Amino acid sequence: MQKKISINTEFLIYDSIEELNKEDKDLLLLAKKATDNAYAPYSNFYVGAAVLMENGIIVTGNNQENAAYPSGLCAERVAVYHASSQYPDLKIKTIAVTARTNGKTLTGPVSPCGSCRQSLSEYEFKFKSAIRIILAGQEGEVYISESVSNLLPLTFTSSSL
Ligand code: THU
Repeated sequence: MQKKISINTEFLIYDSIEELNKEDKDLLLLAKKATDNAYAPYSNFYVGAAVLMENGIIVTGNNQENAAYPSGLCAERVAVYHASSQYPDLKIKTIAVTARTNGKTLTGPVSPCGSCRQSLSEYEFKFKSAIRIILAGQEGEVYISESVSNLLPLTFTSSSL
């Protein structure tokens, strides 16, 4: 006996950053600004993330690379761990992520790696509250999802332990 399920994930796609509401656009612009402090001498791929907490405080982060490559950390985790370390009791409302690189222009949204999806999911589970996620490149479409779970179906959480 077998059954098949299909898991639906949803994103709203905007033609450009100009179509976003002010709160989302401002957050994305802070994520863009955060790319300036990325330390990415090995990949030259500069990622920025901005985390909006429930009380309006915004914490940013960027990727930090290392000569021992696996020791580096992605922008999303730098931002969200910084946010949680400073404001452990504040719900995370939204995270915006963007990137730029040397050479080619990124015309579509940057998509968080699996480890970052897992790390962000932890805080959705902790606060029992969805985290909106805004994904953009240097230009072109912006993807918005109402929950990180749309990026990570069948998430492993503490409820499995
Ligand atoms: N990177 C991020 O910071 N976030 C992502 O979502 C994807 C990848 C970083 C890791 C590394 O410093 C560089 O981008 C190239 O993979």
